[in-house]
Amino acid sequence: MENKEKLKKYYELNRTPLKIKEEKPLSAKFILDACCGGRMFWFNKKHPNTIYVDIRKEEKGFIKYEKNYEVNPDIIADVQKLPFKEKSFKLIIFDPPHLVNYNSGIMFQKYGSLNNNYKDFLSNAFKELWRVLDDYGVINFKWNNQNVKIREILEIIKEIPLCGTKAVSKKNSNTYWFCFMKIPEEK
Ligand SMILES: C[S@@+](CC[C@H](N)C(=O)[O-])C[C@H]1O[C@@H](n2cnc3c(N)ncnc32)[C@H](O)[C@@H]1O
Repeated sequence: MENKEKLKKYYELNRTPLKIKEEKPLSAKFILDACCGGRMFWFNKKHPNTIYVDIRKEEKGFIKYEKNYEVNPDIIADVQKLPFKEKSFKLIIFDPPHLVNYNSGIMFQKYGSLNNNYKDFLSNAFKELWRVLDDYGVINFKWNNQNVKIREILEIIKEIPLCGTKAVSKKNSNTYWFCFMKIPEEK
């Protein structure tokens, strides 16, 4: 079936994930979702070319009012120290927790929280993602500025985004998307 038809079908099925016919070998996993959580972003939550990583695994039912929500990574790992060799991925999705010092509530349960060490965390994580990103590879980074302003985050990250955009969600809370490309120095 053509991709367009698959996508149409997907929407007709009311967001039921596409069925994966076969598992790909590790060599075909050139996309990394480094903090995958519940894979809410994904049209296909089991994309055959993707490795889903998170620091935790949570079974369905761990959130009382969202019985089907689960965190089920392929690999449990810390984004600051990933078990992959350098230049392994062409595309990396990076959506870390954006709340700081939360320890309860549904947002905390679903998305986790950073603590006072968030600067070190983001700096280490971004360096690690840069290491496993291939030349000309892309990082899509999402941030919500509810607790930490985007200007501060970009100073921590150091790499300069190619482009980005802002979606205003609530008063005083915007969601940003940035695209970074690892362009080799000689280019
Ligand atoms: C904002 S949520 C991701 C939501 C996800 N993009 C989605 O579509 O559902 C952030 C996730 O990062 C995970 N996380 C927190 N610290 C991490 C770490 N050090 N390494 C990897 N994942 C981490 C959390 O467990 C949480 O599931």
